[in-house]
Amino acid sequence: GEARRLEGQRVLVTAGGTVERIDPVRYITNDSSGKMGYAIAEEAVRMGAKVTLISGPSALSVPEGVQLIQVQSALDMREAVLAHLDESNLIVKAAAVADYRPAVVSEQKIKKKSDSLTLELIKNPDILQEVGALKKHQFVIGFAAETERLDEHAMDKLNRKNCDLIVGNDVSQEGAGFSGDTNVVRFYDRNGLVEALPIQSKKDVARRLLELAADRMHTAAGK
Ligand code: PMT
Repeated sequence: GEARRLEGQRVLVTAGGTVERIDPVRYITNDSSGKMGYAIAEEAVRMGAKVTLISGPSALSVPEGVQLIQVQSALDMREAVLAHLDESNLIVKAAAVADYRPAVVSEQKIKKKSDSLTLELIKNPDILQEVGALKKHQFVIGFAAETERLDEHAMDKLNRKNCDLIVGNDVSQEGAGFSGDTNVVRFYDRNGLVEALPIQSKKDVARRLLELAADRMHTAAGK
């Protein structure tokens, strides 16, 4: 029926922020709570999908029926995503992956010495970009968290990372983005803006996004 529009589909969702170690007691991370990605995983189950959720550290409990894979760093997340790529039909990348990680992870706690300390960072691999380059049958949805020129940056990411859809998230807006229970998003495809949603719960955003994906996946399969 209408409610189970992802029946028989295998959905892979990433959520949360990655943790990039500096030394045994320190790390770099970001404000992602996992709420957006967990809501997508939960709604996908409700719509009949078999769901794998690859998540950075999060305080949230695992939605029922979801297979959770916990990871720490961007490198860990990359490995887990690539291992599940072939079996997935729909991939939704809501995670806030660190763009950079410490060049060296100190085995010992770094000692306080001079008045300043420079931490060298190196680029992490872009997981979504790799997925976009490798995809065959998969429908791929990326996110774009921006604080300025949302349309332009979201379209640039969609094209560069070869996504079928991208969720533009102006995180400078009230009630949008990291940590809260609501979001304000715009969906884009190759041709531009598809839909702009007013502020609503992350659960409702998740539902609308998955409905749109289900429509497009069925069209592509000729159903
Ligand atoms: O978790 P919440 O507290 O609910 O917050 C939700 C959210 C703000 C994290 C979410 O709505 C969101 O916008 N997620 C994407 C955050 C992000 O890192 O966006 P980005 O514009 O930096 O990355 C673009 C896309 O590339 C994302 O799909 C990201 O998962 C992916 N990426 C980025 C860098 C990288 N090295 N690898 C990636 O796969």
